[in-house]
Amino acid sequence: MNKARSFICAANWKMNLSFAETHSFLQKISKQIEERLEKINKSVVSDKVVKNKALDQKLKSPFCIFPQAVQASLFKGISNLNWGAQDFYFESSGAFTGQNSPDLYKELGANIMLIGHSERRTLFNETNLNIAKKIGKCLEMDMIPMLCIGETIEDRKKNETLKVIEDQLKGALGKSLDVPETLIVAYEPVWAIGTGLTAKSEDVADVHKYIKSLLNQGTPILYGGSVKPENAKELSLVDNVDGFLIGGASLKVDSLLSIYDNACL
Ligand code: PGA
Repeated sequence: MNKARSFICAANWKMNLSFAETHSFLQKISKQIEERLEKINKSVVSDKVVKNKALDQKLKSPFCIFPQAVQASLFKGISNLNWGAQDFYFESSGAFTGQNSPDLYKELGANIMLIGHSERRTLFNETNLNIAKKIGKCLEMDMIPMLCIGETIEDRKKNETLKVIEDQLKGALGKSLDVPETLIVAYEPVWAIGTGLTAKSEDVADVHKYIKSLLNQGTPILYGGSVKPENAKELSLVDNVDGFLIGGASLKVDSLLSIYDNACL
């Protein structure tokens, strides 16, 4: 049961779900999270399991949702899950047509922000410089930054996975890898995102071990890339996998909860 407290299941909804679907998703999941939190709170949690007290104090439960910006106001008042932007701008306000202010997210109760997702990097030219600024803004706003990193299939074929990962971390956190206490990292091999292909357990283990060796021991490292109820158990057992970032399989409450239950309970 202890693992159920610290194993993070984050849902990246991307550009999906209508208002009606979001509304019914939230109604349904809130009750189900309550049931799980009751069990978690009854269990004895040792300091060893909660490896990162600063983060533990900020997380409302093991569940996070990243909805589309226009859906954000539907999350106002939802108190038993963490939620926030799929992307945002690193200034609070001003002449930045088309951008979304982190301050408005905060005003609605958001507490966690996704930064540097591979779709932002490849489709929308997200740069390391912007990613670093967004992490800084997030911390200034007292929100949790969830940084996404991952190699392409070409990088993997060239045996450059670990180098790419290290470069992305340095690009986001500075050359000396200045790791914020509340940072969460999501390792998502680009070729595994939305393709149905998952990385082999040994490969996930190697990359997560390497990331851990570069960062603080208490920084959770999530795995992402075609996570679904069927592979959740196996992936959750890989060393240093502290949670999942889930796209397609997070759009239905039952599927998201099955992933969590299969991984932890
Ligand atoms: P997927 O997406 O689970 O659909 O592969 C993961 C992600 O993009 O975060």
